[in-house]
Amino acid sequence: MDIQIHVKPIIETDCDTIVTFLVEDNAGYGGATDAIDKATNGAVQELIDAGDFTGKSGQIAVIYPRGAINTKRVVLVGLGKSQEFSAITLRRAVATGMQHARKIKAKRVATLLVRGGNDHALTAMQSAQAVVEGAIMGLYTYRGQKSDSTAQDEIDELHISVFNQADLADAQAGANRGKAYAEGAVMTRNLVNTPPNICTPAYLAERASDMAKAKGLRVEILEEGHMRALKMGALLGVAQGSGTTHTPRFIILEHNADKAGTLPTIVLVGKGVTFDTGGYSIKTAEGMIGMKADMGGGGAVISAMSIIADLQVPLHVVGLVPAVENMISDKAYRPQDVLTASNGKTIEIISTDAEGRLILADTLVYAKRYHPVAVVDIATLTGACVVALGKAAAGLFATDDDVANLLSQAGDFTEERVWRLPLYPEYDKAIESDTADIKNSGGPRSGVGTSAAFLKQFVDYPIWAHVDMAGMMVDAENNPTIPTKGATGYGARLLAYFIELWAQKSS
Ligand code: BES
Ligand code: MN
Ligand code: ZN
Repeated sequence: MDIQIHVKPIIETDCDTIVTFLVEDNAGYGGATDAIDKATNGAVQELIDAGDFTGKSGQIAVIYPRGAINTKRVVLVGLGKSQEFSAITLRRAVATGMQHARKIKAKRVATLLVRGGNDHALTAMQSAQAVVEGAIMGLYTYRGQKSDSTAQDEIDELHISVFNQADLADAQAGANRGKAYAEGAVMTRNLVNTPPNICTPAYLAERASDMAKAKGLRVEILEEGHMRALKMGALLGVAQGSGTTHTPRFIILEHNADKAGTLPTIVLVGKGVTFDTGGYSIKTAEGMIGMKADMGGGGAVISAMSIIADLQVPLHVVGLVPAVENMISDKAYRPQDVLTASNGKTIEIISTDAEGRLILADTLVYAKRYHPVAVVDIATLTGACVVALGKAAAGLFATDDDVANLLSQAGDFTEERVWRLPLYPEYDKAIESDTADIKNSGGPRSGVGTSAAFLKQFVDYPIWAHVDMAGMMVDAENNPTIPTKGATGYGARLLAYFIELWAQKSS
């Protein structure tokens, strides 16, 4: 979809479709919608008077201007209450409007920069970002491997009307930001949706390398021999079930690598299990469905790095993704095996299905070599977290209040929410082992707390946060910017915005 910004009244557009907005507690519908009402001899007011349209969030109506203006149709979208107007409500309304426009086969759509009445709740930049982010995220579809190649209806062009010439540069900058963010979400969704026989560790590494080359990030992919030399026994223990078939990859992406000496360093770590059978602690047939998405955290980190590169954030950011399968074979690791991680800690395996924490362990150890001011990991780690929080938020654990607050702020703005959970000492107790330094599962109780306590054993820097996104990776509820089926793209925007907030804080 080609996106252009014009300084021109929307009613002068030559697009086939206008998407415009109306607030619920309507006291005059403002600029563009007003102009459309006047030009169409009161068609908008007629809808309102008839009680057919109130401006309630998510509501849609279509007006046919019959030549009164030079467009086939006007899609009206409810924005909800004006006091509640924000980048979030705008993003959602744009997504809803664009989806409807596509459904009625619009090809060239004109919309406008909504700023929120005279008090301008949003700057031109914020509004343009929300419009572009909402449009791209809302129009996402995954075609998969369907052999039917008939072209789908797609919107080719989006024209955004800006009121003042003075706002043009800001609007363009905001549109670029929106594009960077939305494309990050789209990249994650594509990686997560790709089936596990295609999206293998090697494939994930190749996609990361392609992206890195396109965006000017430094990239390095470690293979098995290198991981062995680094003594990554926990990661390799999980990977060994794949034998020589789908061998592991350790993906390293670096933004501002040349300024590593002068800029503060943040390391992002993402779980990249391309398929989780559970290993010998095998999942049920039903429990295995969805486990192609077990690389969702890794996908989020790779895509966040793409956004961070686009935005040229003034920090040294490293993205680390351990990519493995968790398979069953004569090579696979067993319950009661003892593995030695790269920091020398020995781990008694209780469940081969608690594999995520094992691959993260060696990655968290590896992160220390960058002397980071903070490390944030993200993983589809525990079913217990889904039981606790459902799809409303990911679980957040943090050793520091400031990092927790920045992640919460980023989560609220991006609608990729996190909710903080405690790191109580009881959880450390639960993973004490009789035969090794620790064990990889604390039993059925407080499964989310003990998983975080396990990770903390491999953290050797003052600031660390862990995001358990097991509930967030697929099938969103009730949000037009996120598909209700398949990958949500969760995490990329959250991490990128967190990095931006950190950069603002430290400048
Ligand atoms: N990938 C799963 C967690 C998961 C479950 C993600 C459901 C998304 C939806 C993880 O590797 C796992 O199997 N965790 C176990 C840990 C247990 C064995 C300690 C779990 O949560 O049951
Ligand atoms: Mn598992
Ligand atoms: Zn897993």
